[in-house]
Amino acid sequence: MTAITEVVDLDRRGCIAVLTVNNPPVNALGAGVRKGLRDGIAAAAGDASVSAIVIACAGRTFIAGADITEFGKPPKEPGFHEVLDGIESCAKPVIAAVHGTALGGGLETAMACHDRVGVKAARFGRPEVKLGLLPGAGGTQRLPRVVGVEKALQMIVSGEMIGADDALAHGLIDAIVAGDLTAAAVTFAERVVDEKRPLRKIRDIEDKIAAARGKPEIFAAFRKSVARQTRGFKAPEHCIRAIEASVNLPFPQGLQRERELSAELMASPESKAQRYIFFAEREAAKIPDVPADTPAKEIRKAAVIGAGTMGGGIAMNFANAGIPVTVIEVAKEALDRGLGVVRKNYENTAAKGRLTAQDVETRMGLITGTTDFAAVADADLIIEAVFEEMPIKKEVFARLDTLAKPDAVLATNTSTLDVNEIASATRRPESVIGTHFFSPANVMRLLENVRGAKSSKTAIATAMAVGRKIGKVPVLVGVCHGFVGNRMLHQRGREAEKLILEGALPHQVDKALYDFGFPMGPFAMGDLAGLDVSWRIRKGRGEKSAVADRLCEMGRFGQKTGAGFYTYSADRTPSPDPEVEKIILEVSGRMGIKRRAISVDEIVQRLLYPMVNEGAKILEEKIAIRASDIDVIWVYGYGWPVYRGGPMFWADSIGLKVLRDRMLDFQREHGDQWKPAPLLDRLADQGKTFTGQ
Ligand code: 3HC
Ligand code: NAI
Repeated sequence: MTAITEVVDLDRRGCIAVLTVNNPPVNALGAGVRKGLRDGIAAAAGDASVSAIVIACAGRTFIAGADITEFGKPPKEPGFHEVLDGIESCAKPVIAAVHGTALGGGLETAMACHDRVGVKAARFGRPEVKLGLLPGAGGTQRLPRVVGVEKALQMIVSGEMIGADDALAHGLIDAIVAGDLTAAAVTFAERVVDEKRPLRKIRDIEDKIAAARGKPEIFAAFRKSVARQTRGFKAPEHCIRAIEASVNLPFPQGLQRERELSAELMASPESKAQRYIFFAEREAAKIPDVPADTPAKEIRKAAVIGAGTMGGGIAMNFANAGIPVTVIEVAKEALDRGLGVVRKNYENTAAKGRLTAQDVETRMGLITGTTDFAAVADADLIIEAVFEEMPIKKEVFARLDTLAKPDAVLATNTSTLDVNEIASATRRPESVIGTHFFSPANVMRLLENVRGAKSSKTAIATAMAVGRKIGKVPVLVGVCHGFVGNRMLHQRGREAEKLILEGALPHQVDKALYDFGFPMGPFAMGDLAGLDVSWRIRKGRGEKSAVADRLCEMGRFGQKTGAGFYTYSADRTPSPDPEVEKIILEVSGRMGIKRRAISVDEIVQRLLYPMVNEGAKILEEKIAIRASDIDVIWVYGYGWPVYRGGPMFWADSIGLKVLRDRMLDFQREHGDQWKPAPLLDRLADQGKTFTGQ
């Protein structure tokens, strides 16, 4: 075996050369891998005793793409195009042997080969769009030539992976192999040589793109079908244009067009933000005083207390991950209602073709309902999701203390209550932790894990690991009112209400945030969640909200009553309501406020700057470990547009001095709730940022 570089080896199996990439953890295409592939191919091509070459990878996966840490830095030799040219133009057959995930530049490497084999569990994808990029090394030109334009559009614009069966059906791989992958690829290569198969270069394949030539309607229909989910993003449209070029231009000119579009994206603020979030999400998994090797408890069985809005959704997460879960309710009716909603959710998904009828039964089969509290006894993790009232929570935890296994992790889904006080109801506060899911709990990706003063490292490691296991993005935060997400949301809500009293209307405020990239604004969100929920909380805390309280007194609770800040048609389409406008004007008048026109810019600043300021306080208080954790919380829990990177990254991109100075203007105008947090002040004066960007 010869080491071509530190991360690529060349070996021989008879007349077949095997190039093995070994660049843990995911064999990303750093400079060493690129050089190794280029030089390894050249060495094998120049060796008269070699008749074909296999490219394989060591470790857990085939090449998972370009090395993202190199982006935005001066390019290192050799360029990736040069490497791919070397593979594709090699005079001897080159065969890719894929296991794990062939992603981005990894799939590109495989497509530059003349043949591809993969194991049954291999997956293939173009995730560049998720980083605000397009497959910029020929991917938009090669993929449609192999799998056809429609499949390429779908893969490249969604960024989702496909499995080996799908890849085989679409011609992306030539065979699914079993047993030792490298050995199987070598056998495949020997057959290619024996049969003297002509070299197949994807760049020369014409039939699938010719079928789409002169049919712009294919692209028009695709654009329409993805308009909703790609709103505000820059990369999807660039991807589509590049694929159009593959159909309408010869390969070299298509590559040139792809290069131009790719360069625009690489330099865009949207991609910078999306790449930042990619790493921020992975950073959030790292807890400084809970090292990665801290043993997490294996969750073989879970229990959920309460089958309401949240409990049912939480239970679904476990069933979806194949973990048996017991749901415990106070009364049979509540249990039946809750499990009925769960079944209906699954059936709706099945009706959309995303689950089979068998999947529905398998998942329901993993969920056991009972009114017998003693059923928690065999659960490794118990998540409480009962009413948001401290005495009830404490009673539940006191019971859990007597019934749960000694080493079970006891979690609360509270959104506002003190996790430490809840933990104090047990004799094992070290086993207690907050696991704050977001509604709908089976859909939203964020899991805000709340560390109590006494939570053990095992409890923390378990909550983080189980979060990942059930497909969530877990972020660890500390105890304070509203934790990180809702505490910041509260600031936004306060200003939203002031804005409508000063002169804006709910739909104007909502539109400003919708156009910023949020799925909806604060008033539409209030209507969706139910205005009565926050009304009850306000009453409990002795707080008031002039307009929202009036709407609730009128029975306008939002979507569920057909009216709230908006009125809703039968299909839940909102429209601004003159009656609400009348109430707002009345309240403004009564408070002696002279209404004025408020610009979109001011609306956005008034809503989002206080959130950034609260984020600064959260960091100072060490409620969040790092600024990027706050950004991950807002992107995955509240629909902050990922192409703006989260509130703290966004603030950095504006410039903290600019933001702080604007806050000082608002402080003069509106009072001390606008006082910049000391951390914001300090960073602004020092010309620094929250996120180090
Ligand atoms: N570049 C650099 N580092 C990468 C990386 C990449 N492409 N992909 C993953 N990593 C790092 C992660 O940051 C993480 O580092 P850490 O342990 O220090 O936090 C480590 O590898 C492991 O990653 P995950 O925790 O995500 O591991 P998983 O096993 O859960 O997932 C994966 C593996 C599916 C490969 C996932 O990491 C992934 O989706 N990676 C990104 C793939 C991607 O986007 N590729 C396209 C890049 S763009 C491109 O190829 C351009 C081309 O068109 C030319
Ligand atoms: P919910 O009112 O829909 O459901 C609560 C359920 O708990 C009811 O079905 C009730 O019968 C049951 N219950 C009450 N006491 C019980 C007991 N002693 N034993 C067993 N079951 C009992 O409430 P929801 O919305 O599901 O909220 C639950 C928890 O989740 C609360 O702490 C809430 O703050 C939190 N939360 C709610 C979110 C939301 O959007 N609804 C979001 C995030 C957290």
